[in-house]
Amino acid sequence: MHLKPLLDYHEASKHRFEAFAAGPGYLDWATQPNPFRRYAGARMLTLEQVAESAEPGYDAIFQPDRFPAPAPLDHHSLSQLFFDSLALSAWKSTGANRWALRVNASSGNLHPTEAYLVCGPVAGLCERPMVAHYAPRQHALEVRAEFSPALWQRLSSGFPPGTILVGLASIHWREAWKYGLRAYRYCMHDAGHALCAVTIAAAGLGWHARLLDTVGSSELACLLGTSQPHTGEPEEPDLLVACMPRAPDPLPEPAADVLREFATLDWQGSANALSPAHVDWGVEAIAALARKPHGPAARAASGAGLQAWPAVQRAVALRRVIRQRRSAVAMDGATRMPRDTFYHLLERTLAVPGRVPFSALAWQPALHLVLLVHRVDGVPPGLYLLVRDPAQRARLERAITQADPWQRPAECPDSLPLFCLLQRDTRAAARAIACHQEIASDGCFSLAMLAEFRAPLERYGAWMYPRLYWEAGMIGQLLYLEAEAAGLRATGIGCFFDDPMHEVLGLPDSEFQDLYHFTVGGAVEDARLTTLPAYG
Ligand SMILES: Cc1cc2nc3c(=O)[nH]c(=O)nc-3n(C[C@H](O)[C@H](O)[C@H](O)COP(=O)(O)O)c2cc1C
Repeated sequence: MHLKPLLDYHEASKHRFEAFAAGPGYLDWATQPNPFRRYAGARMLTLEQVAESAEPGYDAIFQPDRFPAPAPLDHHSLSQLFFDSLALSAWKSTGANRWALRVNASSGNLHPTEAYLVCGPVAGLCERPMVAHYAPRQHALEVRAEFSPALWQRLSSGFPPGTILVGLASIHWREAWKYGLRAYRYCMHDAGHALCAVTIAAAGLGWHARLLDTVGSSELACLLGTSQPHTGEPEEPDLLVACMPRAPDPLPEPAADVLREFATLDWQGSANALSPAHVDWGVEAIAALARKPHGPAARAASGAGLQAWPAVQRAVALRRVIRQRRSAVAMDGATRMPRDTFYHLLERTLAVPGRVPFSALAWQPALHLVLLVHRVDGVPPGLYLLVRDPAQRARLERAITQADPWQRPAECPDSLPLFCLLQRDTRAAARAIACHQEIASDGCFSLAMLAEFRAPLERYGAWMYPRLYWEAGMIGQLLYLEAEAAGLRATGIGCFFDDPMHEVLGLPDSEFQDLYHFTVGGAVEDARLTTLPAYG
């Protein structure tokens, strides 16, 4: 398997104490990318700005016996799906500046992720099957192409009635403008955040989301229309997810020839240019290396061996949590969290079979959480490890050479594979490794997502690389929601020094790699900013 160019990219895009990965080093405001792609000339279908509801409760979507009954597929439920996953959540302003926030988090708020709906006829929305681009600013769909019921039949064969497909694509330039070479990683984190957001919004409607990962990148480009020539910045198709009233097992696999047929449709609308000029940081070339051929997908070798905990039921509405999610810009350095809340939050990040959001992914969990605990009552400060795939425990124990004998923390439930590696104050290390950002030391805890790196790449090929980041982004979006549900706040941290983190753990080689950081704590609100409603 020819992995070298991709592994070289991974090394070159590491931030180091001595030097950051290659990037512009300043913000060229004249070429700041427009965060909103539009297809001029495409017919627009307005979606409903759905009023907030108390039901379902946030915790219900994680519990099989309280999972909502499937909503009928219609204009209202589709409006809800996008409103709860990829819509605007607020506008912020200070002085003359105004910028939109969204339900899905994005590195630098640059939002490289574009979304497409592929569906059959939907009551109140469309009479013919269509491919439509989601326009978050308008909360509307732009019809890119209509197609025959016969083609929809062939595409959706084996899926239950009421299935829709959501495709995600990345405009790398939006992140490259600010972050240069490292931008590809951030785009893939963001795709993972968006995938998690769609999965959780679908669960709110009683729908099951599953990644259709046998689909190849070039077939997906045909389906979503991103392979159609235009003069705007290119979009790289990332993934296709089915949202269904029930999840068939095995999952149907759309055929390559059916997907390719979409390239011949009459595509409507022309993509806007997002910037007047561009700098090539080589990100498109990296994305090309990581394209997936049509065919077998990564599959879990065994059940994750994890069990769900007894249910918790907090009086927190799912859609309140989803739409109030924000990144903390600073943590207060004082808020503490109770031990049970900490354990509970970690438990939610486990890929318990069938449970959202990781039910959307078919592969064996590849990421583990290295926790730097600062302020958790009943859990002494120190370095901890949550082994998200128990099958990898022995390998992790061998690889992590800078640790005391692993110990189970006090009162830690048997089914939570959490271990204390070192007891000590890790605040200075947390801050230094997170590019000296105080949010990493001023929260209740911060964490590094440590991926089993070489083995999945060697087993599957370069196309597994973005998928490791998707898994990281999904954990991230879930951590944001879990923090909100616990009355706390979180922030994703893409800026960190990779190898210094590996050195803290004493990792000898690239068998495991740190892919993403996060912090959770009590936020300090920025009183200089005004918050305005998302729409109207
Ligand atoms: C992949 C990723 C990396 C991020 N890295 C950082 C970071 O290093 N430092 C930081 O303060 N915020 C970071 N953020 C938070 C974003 O700046 C934030 O999500 C964005 O401004 C949008 O704001 P919102 O999350 O409140 O919607 C990151 C977010 C993501 C998704």
